[in-house]
Amino acid sequence: MIVVFGSINMDLVARVPRIARPGETVLSRRADSFFGGKGANQAVAAARIGQGRPGRVAMVGAVGDDPFGEACRKNLEDNGIDVQAVQVADEPTGCAFITVDEAGENAITVASGANMVLRSTDLSDSLLSEASVLVLQMEVPLADSLDAAARARRAGVRVIWNFAPVPPTKERSGMAELLQATDVLVVNEHEALAIAEIVGVPAGDDYLQAAAAVTKDFGPTCIVTAGARGAYAVSRDGTRIHAAARPITPVDTTGAGDTFVGVLANGFSEGLEIGPAMERACAAASLSCLTPGAQAGMPQREALERYLAQG
Ligand code: RIB
Ligand code: NA
Repeated sequence: MIVVFGSINMDLVARVPRIARPGETVLSRRADSFFGGKGANQAVAAARIGQGRPGRVAMVGAVGDDPFGEACRKNLEDNGIDVQAVQVADEPTGCAFITVDEAGENAITVASGANMVLRSTDLSDSLLSEASVLVLQMEVPLADSLDAAARARRAGVRVIWNFAPVPPTKERSGMAELLQATDVLVVNEHEALAIAEIVGVPAGDDYLQAAAAVTKDFGPTCIVTAGARGAYAVSRDGTRIHAAARPITPVDTTGAGDTFVGVLANGFSEGLEIGPAMERACAAASLSCLTPGAQAGMPQREALERYLAQG
């Protein structure tokens, strides 16, 4: 089983001609709501690919006692995800305010709400004992994520940590511990440089050098997702793997990284090696960019296989 320990949000999305600068107002025709949150997105991506096959997915997260929370929980259920460990907290459901520009790029502000009430103890030992992979991100309390990861490692569960979003400067302790508790770190180019800087390894402005330095000093395999350039993995033994992405014209890149992480987790749970798991994850991430919203474009198993077969 894949267990995702992470955030659940409702996304409120406005399409804008360009993303507003500080102090500026930009008009948009309308706002749409979509299911989001990095944790929930990753769980949905994994569940869609794993449907009907080994690789059940469980979500450990928290929502508020409000209509958004109820809708988010139902959405997870509708995607075949085990929601027994989704807590109802005394805080509003997390909400992300997103603007998407004409090139499909986004800017996101997350109001965390209930996500900050999630605790490591919400991941029970019995659920952990069923897991083969634990997936984490940076949108719920870090201390609890670290504890969950450490418990998973002790239980022989593979830990995938998506270092997104990069924490603010004053909340950057614990990063060495994070890396040491991680088997596979997934970052984008910007996050690769940020983590290298935070833990003080030399990287300059080269994200692959950053990944290599983090891997060498702290141990996890580091995967850098690089948009149209696909993804690169650097492992401690020096192995480097590249998975290409097929050219697409993105409509909305929100959740592309989450799609990558979820499908990667599914690949691992099905026993794939890192290279083939990355190929699948890249293809699924590309497909996810063709539809507005974080989750709507995430492919089901068959759609992904058809896309991969097109070569
Ligand atoms: O990665 C995309 C996600 O980040 C959005 O769905 C939003 O909720 C934020 O958590
Ligand atoms: Na999308």
